[in-house]
Amino acid sequence: MIMERCLILVKPDGVERNLIGEVISRFERKGLAIKALKMMRVTREQAEDHYSVHRLKPFFDDLVSYLTSGPIVAMIVEGNNAIASSRMLAGATDGSKAAPGTIRGDFSLDIERNIVHASDSLESYEHEYKIFFNENEIMD
Ligand code: TYD
Repeated sequence: MIMERCLILVKPDGVERNLIGEVISRFERKGLAIKALKMMRVTREQAEDHYSVHRLKPFFDDLVSYLTSGPIVAMIVEGNNAIASSRMLAGATDGSKAAPGTIRGDFSLDIERNIVHASDSLESYEHEYKIFFNENEIMD
């Protein structure tokens, strides 16, 4: 068993399209435990920090604008291999290429507006979760 945690975001397009429950239920049905959950607005500073590895990419400004364009739902899930499992549930980055059965494959046709975020490594998780949660918001 590799007990891990992963940061999941239902991004603004997911919230706008009433997919919050759909996304949460996919993680729950997989067996991942929700350790923290909240709806919030993301500030420009938070979005820039969250996507800081992409700051030199041409899509960075659009990405930050998108993440701050409306409320999101942030959660921390925990379970065996949580990062790889969550990435599989999310599907490929580009919704038009993501496999059916994945969240992006089922609900997105776009590379930017792709419904969901899931940390891609332990290192990313350690950086990301602190942007969205205080320690006292995480259940042990
Ligand atoms: P990335 O970390 O590569 O993908 P993932 O979300 O699957 O971990 O990219 C982060 C986000 O940046 C991605 O969800 C959507 C956006 N993005 C673009 O808008 N254009 C692009 O060409 C890429 C690669 C990503």
